[in-house]
Amino acid sequence: MVLVAPSLLSADFSNLEKEIKNIEEAGADWLHLDIMDGHFVPNITFGPGLVKALRPHSNLFFDAHLMIENPDFYVEEFVKAGCQLITIHEEAVKHLHRSIQNIKSYGVKVGVSLNPATPLNGLEYILDDLDLVLVMSVNPGFGGQKFLPQVLQKIKELRQMIKNRGLKTFIQVDGGINADNAAQVAEAGADVLVAGSFVFGREDRRKAISCLKNPLKNI
Ligand code: DX5
Ligand code: ZN
Repeated sequence: MVLVAPSLLSADFSNLEKEIKNIEEAGADWLHLDIMDGHFVPNITFGPGLVKALRPHSNLFFDAHLMIENPDFYVEEFVKAGCQLITIHEEAVKHLHRSIQNIKSYGVKVGVSLNPATPLNGLEYILDDLDLVLVMSVNPGFGGQKFLPQVLQKIKELRQMIKNRGLKTFIQVDGGINADNAAQVAEAGADVLVAGSFVFGREDRRKAISCLKNPLKNI
């Protein structure tokens, strides 16, 4: 069964404590934190201060998706704020191997994210070092965008790459995930589904999360 990581980006920002408690009770596995800097992506969200303020109010696994330039400068702050997984974008760093080792040095899990147009071959020499690969199924920057179906093939190829090497690396898929595509995404090989608008946009979050967790039942 896949894990579900609701993205805080689509929550009611005036009521975050209530929102995270609500999704935790509704069966969420992780909390996905979309960090945007207005440079790497054309949007700005929040930083480590907000993450730190939320940390005491939740037992969820805090999954930070850094859509920022120079992520190396901010890793320590996000770890201190309580993030347990730090994912950086391959496209945002010049020395990917060094940035990965930097994250690992703080004792947290490390992920690398690929934009829809970024091929898998950049993972060739670093995959063994990763806990997770985040496959973007929209161009990053905003919630509520449409899932790009060409990403399904990429997920399948990545699953094969991980299998061939005998690794346990998680595949996370982020962007436009809903009840209509969750089954295909899980079948292609995803372990973790990020969902912003599909979960937070619904009254019944328990039902939304359960639809994503048991996607094969929807067919
Ligand atoms: C996009 C973010 C996603 C986004 C997902 O840049 O990384 O996590 O919030 O939102 P939905 O599920 O609405 O596409
Ligand atoms: Zn994200």
